[in-house]
Amino acid sequence: MTKFLEVKNLSVSFPTEDGLVKASNDVSYSVDLGKTLAIVGESGSGKSVSNLAIMGLHNRATTQISGSAFLNLDESPIDVISAPEETVRRLRGKVMSMIFQDPMSALHPYFSVGNQIAEAWSLYNEGSKRDGMKRATEMLDLVGIPSAADRVKDFPHQFSGGMRQRVMIAMALVNNPKLLIADEPTTALDVTVQSQILKLIQEIQKEFNMAVILITHDLGVVAEVADNVCVMYGGKIVETSAIDEIFYRSQHPYTTALLESIPRVDQFGSHRLKAISGQPPSLIGLPKGCSFAPRCQFVSHVSGNRCTTEDPELTEKAKDHFARCFLSTEQIHSLTGRNVKA
Ligand SMILES: Nc1ncnc2c1ncn2[C@@H]1O[C@H](COP(=O)(O)OP(=O)(O)OP(=O)(O)O)[C@@H](O)[C@H]1O
Ligand code: SF4
Ligand SMILES: [Mg+2]
Repeated sequence: MTKFLEVKNLSVSFPTEDGLVKASNDVSYSVDLGKTLAIVGESGSGKSVSNLAIMGLHNRATTQISGSAFLNLDESPIDVISAPEETVRRLRGKVMSMIFQDPMSALHPYFSVGNQIAEAWSLYNEGSKRDGMKRATEMLDLVGIPSAADRVKDFPHQFSGGMRQRVMIAMALVNNPKLLIADEPTTALDVTVQSQILKLIQEIQKEFNMAVILITHDLGVVAEVADNVCVMYGGKIVETSAIDEIFYRSQHPYTTALLESIPRVDQFGSHRLKAISGQPPSLIGLPKGCSFAPRCQFVSHVSGNRCTTEDPELTEKAKDHFARCFLSTEQIHSLTGRNVKA
């Protein structure tokens, strides 16, 4: 069945003085209207780079991009990777929109928030400045900013971090996009505000039936909001499945390590979180073998030095559950103790 966004074999590389940085390496994922896909991984794993490619935000002259990303629009599908830049520019902000980690750098300090939202609206709508400000007020109201009619004239610095992120969401959604890519939208915020913002995105998603990609380094935040998860490591997807499968029956040692680093309410105070020791791999001239091998505690359970000589393929380990590891399902579940009835 076709989904609204279908990314296939997407690779993004940057030629640099030190060599070719393979930031995103043959990644495939999809997300449908009304659904949320979480993309999880450590810093530098290629989460943003893949999604910036979908938004057409890389410099095509200096970036090597291959693969495809189809937006299955009612009229006809468009591959945003091969489409002319002008076509992608027209889709951006209208059909697909992105919100970023740091709203302060995305908002202009010298214009009122209303002005900036109205400006984004006027790119795709006919109407006066007044209509634009009216729409901006509606949007601020929608994202839960109290006294929206008064605050529409305020400047970004007059808002708290959480409120600024709400303004960014209002701006991203002003033209009713079908796909929203939220790139670490809550990282800079405290825990309570984080969960409010995620709830807000979820509510708006339901109301407008949007496809949402939520990028985060924190597997803990996705449990309540995502339908499916892709775990990225060293520019590649190492595991992908429905949310419960990942949480209860993870099939990759990196994911299980991430899961063990999530604070658990029932272990509060007595449980030391396990950090994943070692460094992420260099993305220039990847070594032979599995990229996770230098940090993996289960290398010795795979026979014949395979982990250090052969790169595992992403294989279907259970229905719609793919992982990139030589361990069998039985092995990984007995080693990690993860085969819990959901
Ligand atoms: N323009 C560029 N030129 C060279 N290397 C780049 C460029 N943009 C990104 N990279 C590299 O690509 C890799 C992946 O970057 P990306 O921003 O996708 O990581 P990320 O998973 O989003 O990490 P974070 O959680 O820190 O945002 C990083 O090693 C980064 O340094
Ligand atoms: S293939 Fe080997 S090194 Fe890679 S995750 Fe599996 S057990 Fe660990
Ligand atoms: Mg990023």
